[in-house]
Amino acid sequence: MKQALLQLFRSAFGGEPTVIARAPGRIEFIGNHTDYNGGTVLGAAIDRGIWVAARAAQGGRATFVSGHTPARVEIALDSALSKQTGDRAWVNYQLGVWAKLPAFGLRQPAGFEFADVSDLPPGAGLGSSAAIELATGLALTALAGEAPAREILVKLGRKAENEFVGVPCGILDQGVSGFGQRDHLVFIDCRGPVFATVPLPADAHFWVFNTHTKHALVDGLYAARHRECMDAARALGVALLVEATPALLEAKRAALPDVNYRRAKHVIEEIGRVGAVQAALAQGDLAAVGKLLTASHRSSQTLFENSTPELDFLVDRLAAAPHVHGARLTGGGFGGAVMALTDGTFAQADAEQVAAAYAAKFGAQPAILHLKTGPGAELVAG
Ligand code: GLA
Repeated sequence: MKQALLQLFRSAFGGEPTVIARAPGRIEFIGNHTDYNGGTVLGAAIDRGIWVAARAAQGGRATFVSGHTPARVEIALDSALSKQTGDRAWVNYQLGVWAKLPAFGLRQPAGFEFADVSDLPPGAGLGSSAAIELATGLALTALAGEAPAREILVKLGRKAENEFVGVPCGILDQGVSGFGQRDHLVFIDCRGPVFATVPLPADAHFWVFNTHTKHALVDGLYAARHRECMDAARALGVALLVEATPALLEAKRAALPDVNYRRAKHVIEEIGRVGAVQAALAQGDLAAVGKLLTASHRSSQTLFENSTPELDFLVDRLAAAPHVHGARLTGGGFGGAVMALTDGTFAQADAEQVAAAYAAKFGAQPAILHLKTGPGAELVAG
C-alpha cells in the first residue's frame, strides 16, 4: 500500500510527501445504532484501511488525487469553502477535517497536496469514511506541526462527518479506527466518550460477506433512524435512549408511535446485548457471544428495519452453518456487509458455499473477506 501511495503521489505532484498516515476500517462487532443514543458498542479495527500522503503547498489551495479515481480536484481553502457535490464529493471528508481543525484549537495548513489509496471496499459498512477522516486528521495536523491526542483526532473526524459531510453518525467508526489494537476489540461508552480495549479470544475469526448492495436512500434512512430515536427519547422523558430501561419503555408505550417504540426497543435491548457480550467474552464463551450477535441481527430485521433480504439471507445461511458462532449485519445497514464470527476451522470452501447459495438466489457474488484485527490509526512518516 505504501509503495502504491508513493507512486501515486510522485506521479501527481512530482516529488516526495513529507507526511504519511494510515487508518484502518472497522467491523461493528455489536452495538447497532447505539452510539448516537449514548449507549455502548464493541468494534474491531481491521487489517485494511486507507493510506494518505501529503506535503505543504503555496497558494492557499488543496489538491487531491486518489487511487480510486483518475480525477484531480483543486479547492481554494478560503472562507467560501463549502461542501462539494457530484464527482468532487469524495474530497468532502478531507475538507471537513481541514475545516474543523480550529474547533479543536488546532492550526490549519494553509495549502497542501494530498494523495490517498485504500484497500477497504467503500460502502460495505466497514467504516471507510472514518478511516479517511482519521488518516487525514493525522496528516494535516502533522503538516501544521501539531500532535493532538488520539481522542481529539477521533472527535475531529466525527465533527467533520456530522457538520461538513452532513451525516449524523455517532463515534463508533472514528473511535474504533483511532483506538484499534491487534487481537482486541474496542469498547466505547459513547456518553463520555470513554474508550477501552478488550482482548479477543485467540480462536475468534471474522468473515465478512460484502453484498455490494446499497440502498439508494441510505443517508436519508440513517438520518431518519436518528430522528426516530431522538423523538422516542423525548417521548420517554430522557435526553438519550441510553437512559431508558425496558420497563420505562413498556410503561410509556402508548405515548410513542409504534414505529418509534420499535426503534427504541432495538436500541435499549441492543445496549443490553453489548453488556452480555462483554460478560461472555470475559468467560471466553464464543458460542454465547455468537448467539447474541445473531439476536442483534434479528432485532435489526424486525424492530429497527435496517436490514435487507440480501443481508437476511446471508445471516440465515451462516447462522445454520457448522463452525459459525453467529452472524449479523455490520454497520449502519440498508445494504453493505454481513459479518460472521467463526472458529478456526471455518474455511474458504465453507464461505464459498454460502456465497454460491447467495449467487443462486440474487444473481451476484458477494465478496468474501477473511479479516484480521489490526492496529489503530498512526502516522507512518513525518
Ligand atoms: C454507521 C455510523 C456509526 C453507527 C453505525 C450503526 O457506521 O457511522 O456511527 O451509528 O452506523 O451502529
